[in-house]
Amino acid sequence: MTIKTIIWKNNTVVLIDQKALPVAEKYIVCKSYKEVISAIKDLTVRGAPAIGVAAAMASALGALKLPSLPPEKFRNKFFTICYEIAKARPTARNLFWALERMKDVVSRAKPKSQNDLIKELINEAKLTCSEDIKINRQMGKYGSGLLADGDNLLTHCNAGALATAGYGTALGVIRAAREQGKKLHVYVDETRPVLQGARLTAWELKKEKIPFTLITDNMAGFLMQQDRLDKIIVGADRIAANGDTANKIGTYSLAVLACSHRIPFYVAAPLSTIDVSLKTGATIPIEERKGEEVTHFKGVRSAPEGTKVYNPAFDITPAKYITAIITEKGILKKPYRASIARIIKGEKLS
Ligand code: MRU
Repeated sequence: MTIKTIIWKNNTVVLIDQKALPVAEKYIVCKSYKEVISAIKDLTVRGAPAIGVAAAMASALGALKLPSLPPEKFRNKFFTICYEIAKARPTARNLFWALERMKDVVSRAKPKSQNDLIKELINEAKLTCSEDIKINRQMGKYGSGLLADGDNLLTHCNAGALATAGYGTALGVIRAAREQGKKLHVYVDETRPVLQGARLTAWELKKEKIPFTLITDNMAGFLMQQDRLDKIIVGADRIAANGDTANKIGTYSLAVLACSHRIPFYVAAPLSTIDVSLKTGATIPIEERKGEEVTHFKGVRSAPEGTKVYNPAFDITPAKYITAIITEKGILKKPYRASIARIIKGEKLS
């Protein structure tokens, strides 16, 4: 079963509308880069790798709509478009990684016509999409070895096909283990306040016929105490050079609880999520979203008018709580500063 999250089609960006899931499976068509920015901001497209691919395609759309310009002016305009896209969401490293990659195409370009350069940008954007699926499958190959037949797993948020160009990171590892014939059961955290677990992960697992049970976030500790969980596996939005990991709010609490209950806690993420420019997680920018996500449910008020809200979308899990980080180049172990440095340099892991 293939879920198509993002498609470049006839010079438009087609996105599955993740806000409408699981009630309706519909697609929206973005004709301008500004429409893609809105889709990233309002979570029509979400999940770090998917945001990266959407950003790359948005920049290609922006380039496509530029009038004919002298090369220097084209470059400046393109960089301004990228700058605007970069402001869509602050935490996912993949957004900035993808835009750097697109800007490199323009910076490296030998003198050529604007049309040829735009063709190159479109190809590069499409490549970020097709490569992401291959990377996820590669992660699945490595990560599936960590899962055993009969495991009861827990995942948080949605790190599946919907959060990527396809297949998924954490859910990709689960998919790969299933493809190898391992029988698995997944507990799905509903993931307040936006319910990516209940709406999206449950939808994907149901489609995939992987047995799952939905729980509210505050039940996870009790499940651990009851010995119901063998392993926890989540995705990541940004990983600092020391392995500290930003992921959906609630991930940190899970990791601390897992440590206390001696349950392995795995993070699955592509190398494009790693930000070696940040020494630790302390400087990872954490997005704060609007209070209505907390005070309302589907437009219906669930807290008194005027209620003060703090709504950070992500938290930081210190590296010490992470048993291993699964990447497309292999499984990283502690000390992460050393294993991350080696993998980024392209060295083989022992
Ligand atoms: O706010 P979201 O839905 O974009 O947050 C997504 C997550 O936190 C995911 O776990 C993360 O991006 C990894 S997706 C492969």
